[in-house]
Amino acid sequence: MTVNFTNVAVIGAGAMGRGIAQIAAQAGSQVLLFDSFDGAATRGRDAILSQWQKLHEKGKLDAAQRDDLSARIRAVDSMQALADCDLVIEAVVEDLQVKRQLFHEVEAIVSTSATLASNTSSLSVTAIAASLKHPERMAGFHFFNPVPLMKVVEVVAGFNTDSDICRRLADYAKQMGHSAVQAKDTPGFIVNHAGRGYGTEALRIVSEGVADFATIDRILKDQAGFRLGPFELLDLTGLDVSHPVMESIYRQYYEEPRYRPSVIAAQRVAAGALGRKSGAGFYRYPEGTMQQVPEPPTPKVDAFPPVWVSSRAARRPELLRLVHTLGAQLESGAAPSAAALILVAPLGFDVTTVAAVERLDATRTIGIDMMMDDAATRRRVLATNPATRCDMRDAAHALFASDGKAVSVIRDSGGFVTQRVVATIVNIACDMCQQGVCSPADLDLAVRLGLGYPQGPLAMGDLYGPTNMLEVLFNLQTVYGDPRYRPSPWLRRRGALGLSLTHQEE
Ligand code: NAI
Repeated sequence: MTVNFTNVAVIGAGAMGRGIAQIAAQAGSQVLLFDSFDGAATRGRDAILSQWQKLHEKGKLDAAQRDDLSARIRAVDSMQALADCDLVIEAVVEDLQVKRQLFHEVEAIVSTSATLASNTSSLSVTAIAASLKHPERMAGFHFFNPVPLMKVVEVVAGFNTDSDICRRLADYAKQMGHSAVQAKDTPGFIVNHAGRGYGTEALRIVSEGVADFATIDRILKDQAGFRLGPFELLDLTGLDVSHPVMESIYRQYYEEPRYRPSVIAAQRVAAGALGRKSGAGFYRYPEGTMQQVPEPPTPKVDAFPPVWVSSRAARRPELLRLVHTLGAQLESGAAPSAAALILVAPLGFDVTTVAAVERLDATRTIGIDMMMDDAATRRRVLATNPATRCDMRDAAHALFASDGKAVSVIRDSGGFVTQRVVATIVNIACDMCQQGVCSPADLDLAVRLGLGYPQGPLAMGDLYGPTNMLEVLFNLQTVYGDPRYRPSPWLRRRGALGLSLTHQEE
């Protein structure tokens, strides 16, 4: 196989530049590593060589392969040495002026046929390329950290970028063993844009007093299959990194409410509670290990009250079967008896609204999130309303925990936890498709590989049902009156027509 770019320069030998240089050499290119900081390029090369040595010791590379790779990478101490390169990838400090000046200098050294690429994660590719005589030959080539392990790269087309350049970079990414996704030059590109829903909505739920952060993490892991809860993730990344990204995307989209950051995060940054790196964030990390927050115990009750289930409950037949299996007596009358525990299962609405609209006795009304198939989740989530009696809350908790399944009881919330977080993620992804940021397939692939979500956001929306997603969002908008929840036209139309969220118009 002939490699797409024979001579590749990587400028900036930090965390990202080293990773990019490593996989470029592994793809078969000759790689020159340059850094303006004295000795940094040589240190970068040594670090890459030691990676290959480790792979050799693990039996993943034989000695000849290791030596062959090592011969392909050279540290240089002058930009003039890059003259013969047919691809220059920049991974220097994230500063527009520095990157513009750098490419201006590079353009004067390399041939007119050389391709130029920037690993910027948050700057406009168009703005960086604006300093060039030939901006059509520059694209974004956005890798993720650590580069050899995060097998996805966003190829970003600036306003003037030639589409052939993007195709060649995408093919080269494949030669590097990565999946390439194509993005338009928009704030956050794909992954950092699509990732805005998870943390911001979870922070809103905490700030509304619905549940504490540890409960929200448990719910999203056990009900929706996320590997890390949003607060575990914020702690891992560090709020000093995530909060400025939230603010920057919000500002770059001219205060789009869907991306609105949280004052909770801002306050924690001010207090230095950044996460794992500072020893405490949402969780505590004595000696570097996360301290688990114990779950509230299941209350003991002598007997379950009879249960009446609203006729408008989501997945009503499944809920009736579940209550029956758990051993409670089911009421079948049109209205609940005076002793009954009243169950509602709204989509997007809060328990209060349902109790008021259905004229139910709120003191005995409890909500259960039935958007998901009960058999497919590891946790049930119940919500009270401000009038719910404690004995009814405890009875419902004990009943739904009686087969050993985990139960979380939260305070009233439009769309509980999972519905509103999932719908927010799905809605943002749908709007990205509506804006043509990328194709639906690239969006799902980038998010799965870049963020490790259990499904891509569009596949997630299809799993829970586009019509359900639409209903959740309409009702969230009614409960909160916040344009944050207005459904994207992409979701509105596909949800209304019963089409998959990945459906593209012919
Ligand atoms: P880093 O700070 O580890 O490395 C940057 C390197 O560039 C340093 O060795 C520095 O000496 C060198 N440098 C600075 N100005 C230079 C110049 N004018 N000419 C030549 N070398 C110069 O930074 P890191 O984390 O590797 O990030 C580099 C780029 O990659 C940034 O644009 C960043 O936004 C982007 N990025 C970073 C990710 C991460 O997780 N660290 C993920 C994706 C993109």
